[in-house]
Amino acid sequence: MTTARTVTLALTGASGMPYGMRLLECLLRSPVRVYLIYSQAAQIVARQEMNLSLPARASEAAALLTQRYSPQEGQLRVFGREEWFAPVASGSNPADAMVICPCTMGTLAAVASGLSDNLIERAADVMLKERRPLILVPRETPLSTIHLENMLRLSRAGATILPANPGFYHHPDGVDAIVDFVVSRILDQLGIDHELMSRWGDQADDD
Ligand SMILES: Cc1cc2nc3c(=O)[nH]c(=O)nc-3n(C[C@H](O)[C@H](O)[C@H](O)COP(=O)(O)O)c2cc1C
Repeated sequence: MTTARTVTLALTGASGMPYGMRLLECLLRSPVRVYLIYSQAAQIVARQEMNLSLPARASEAAALLTQRYSPQEGQLRVFGREEWFAPVASGSNPADAMVICPCTMGTLAAVASGLSDNLIERAADVMLKERRPLILVPRETPLSTIHLENMLRLSRAGATILPANPGFYHHPDGVDAIVDFVVSRILDQLGIDHELMSRWGDQADDD
């Protein structure tokens, strides 16, 4: 395949796993290579919210997701949380962009503090230091002062904070349309074409 770009997608254990899985599906339908990493808490939330068992082993996860989404050869690589030899661990071989979706307040705080204690945190740290796009999709409510300060810190460091805040002005007809609203915003940020929803002002029946 001709890979236009490489996107690192990290799933963490916040509510909103359908956003992350739908984003993965859309990325794999695009001419984009995907590096996937997920936290232990993400496995718990995937089971709770989607009845989806993400295996602990990266190789087993790659097999499962290949069966589910049929990516092209070499399009999807899954990395373990401690896989320090993964390309995303180094500024010498970063992805073109990274999305953490859904993003917990814990991972957000760790990235804001530069902890780099697992591959998700390290990959995000690399994106910041290399000045490459890093998009965080946090999900929490209400937000504490600490959450807000961490988001401000990340925004000032160059990250994009894209909360999982679906709009309702398109009259969504169900959960899938609500999910697609958020995913379409992430794809827009990545500059990836999609037809998940019509754009405001493009259709007479938008109002
Ligand atoms: C079902 C479920 C839903 C959760 N939802 C959220 C959430 O929306 N936001 C959040 O910040 N943490 C949420 N948590 C808590 C995180 O999973 C927990 O803080 C975890 O340590 C985060 O680890 P991670 O950042 O490595 O994924 C949830 C946990 C569970 C089990």
